[in-house]
Amino acid sequence: MVLGQAGYNNPMEEITLIATTKFGLEALVKRELQDLGFTELLVSEGRVEFAAAPHDIPRLNLWLRCADRVLVKVGEFTAVTFDELFEQTKALPWEKWITADGEFPINARSVKSTLQSERTCQAIVKKAVAERLSAAYGVDWLAESGALYTIQVTIRRDTALLTIDTSGLGLHKRGYRAEAGAAPLKETLAAALVQLSFWNKDRLLIDPFCGAGTILIEAALIGRNIAPGMRRDFAAEGWTAVPEEAWRAAQDEAEAAIDREGELQLFGSDVDETAVATARENAILAGLGGDITFS
Ligand SMILES: C[S@@+](CC[C@H](N)C(=O)[O-])C[C@H]1O[C@@H](n2cnc3c(N)ncnc32)[C@H](O)[C@@H]1O
Repeated sequence: MVLGQAGYNNPMEEITLIATTKFGLEALVKRELQDLGFTELLVSEGRVEFAAAPHDIPRLNLWLRCADRVLVKVGEFTAVTFDELFEQTKALPWEKWITADGEFPINARSVKSTLQSERTCQAIVKKAVAERLSAAYGVDWLAESGALYTIQVTIRRDTALLTIDTSGLGLHKRGYRAEAGAAPLKETLAAALVQLSFWNKDRLLIDPFCGAGTILIEAALIGRNIAPGMRRDFAAEGWTAVPEEAWRAAQDEAEAAIDREGELQLFGSDVDETAVATARENAILAGLGGDITFS
């Protein structure tokens, strides 16, 4: 390993990932993960946990349609005192992920736990990770000028879960919605609606209140088998722990998977002309201008 660089010597080494989702969509995300070849999925409220490898991180971010984020699980432990939170956080191998120059902001959440002050938890985790990284890299000062490693500490019923976010912006940000309209539906929810409707690319779909066109655009992405994350960036693209080759391979795989055959029957309309114009523009930005008819 190069000094100051984080990384798994073996990008196939087993790690634990968590796909977070809106409450109620866990079964859909589980199905998406199964379709991507992952097994032994542990489903709980708002999340699906599974075994993977660092090289899976690009594919997951590119393909998951209904998940909010993909997180690396760094550790989970019981903590009822701030000392316990500090020591156990410091004992985790943060240097496997975070480089010597990595930026690592901390988000803290506490639910029904003895350690209630989110601000204090945030400060303690920051100090513990900083001490761990300083010792690992043999430096006194961490510049935090490099790639982004957003750490989330969630303490629920005295169990602390520590994760790093691989996605950056939430996965609903596909990169095609320049204008959102008045009351837009999140792209991840629109994709969930389409998947729950049992629509498929040979069937008709009409959205008579299409707004910014989100439901139809998500349907077109599904119909054309286009990975929803193809047009955006992810936090983990800057990580040395995820091989660049894995990003290239995932992008190539997504390009090759696009199904350009046949016509889709997707129609949208709206009483508001501006909404129709926005929907049209968004469909064009998504590269699906020829697949949806708006009026
Ligand atoms: C909640 S928004 C739809 C948002 C859309 N799903 C999206 O993601 O952007 C509801 C839309 O219904 C449209 N609308 C309201 N009354 C309508 C009507 N009578 N006929 C057609 N469209 C109507 C509004 O102009 C608005 O764009």
